Amino acid sequence: MALLKNPLIIALDVSALEEAEILIDRLSPYAGGFKVGMQLYNSVGPEAVRRLRQKNVPVFVDLKLHDIPNTVAGAVSVLTRHGAAILNVHAAGGVAMMQAAVKAAHGEAARSAVEPPLVVAVTILTSISQDAFNQEIGFTGSISERVAKWALLAKEAGLDGVVASPLEIALIRKACGEDFVIITPGMRPAGAAADDQKRTMTPGEAVRQGATYLVVGRPVTAAPDPVSAVKSILEEIGL
Ligand code: C5P
Repeated sequence: MALLKNPLIIALDVSALEEAEILIDRLSPYAGGFKVGMQLYNSVGPEAVRRLRQKNVPVFVDLKLHDIPNTVAGAVSVLTRHGAAILNVHAAGGVAMMQAAVKAAHGEAARSAVEPPLVVAVTILTSISQDAFNQEIGFTGSISERVAKWALLAKEAGLDGVVASPLEIALIRKACGEDFVIITPGMRPAGAAADDQKRTMTPGEAVRQGATYLVVGRPVTAAPDPVSAVKSILEEIGL
């Protein structure tokens, strides 16, 4: 998948455009792309995506859409027009919602003469432990089985891939094949703080397991020297 120049996507989890731009300018020579999530998007709006596009940097717009099909389709059309390279919806929104998202992305891309974004499904958040999955949310069975089932559902609905914990890469590959995109957050280089993430792995191991893209936030953005943090992750994954 040659959408990004390398698998490393940096999460711009900041509130100010100026703060994001400092990170973009310092890290774009090294990172494959950047992720605009709900903190930055809800602070500055589509301008965050526009700035990255102006710098010719691929943007993963991580708004984890989860609503009725018509509403999600409308939001996907807007984000496609803004130039998202990747966008996501929750698999828990069901097949009709996922299909509506894909149809909207392709329809809008054709109308606006832009590349259609990859549409991927969020499975189970990497901050959810097995215990919380069963005891709090009330799902039965293991997280990994549920993730593999939802990944297949997303594939059958026409999505390009999923966002999942690195611990589930092997199962997803087995269920969905080699071409399916697997984006893994929950990356923690050896010795880094886990923060609120529960199901984590080192970047090198995630790539070896078959991740397509890695999303890394605080281990880079909160590092004393973000550039050397990115360089050492690239080195760890053999780039
Ligand atoms: O700082 P950290 O590396 O934990 O950031 C992970 C990023 O990936 C955050 O922006 C978070 O929203 C995102 N993410 C996640 N788990 C998912 C989907 C996205 O941690 N399942």
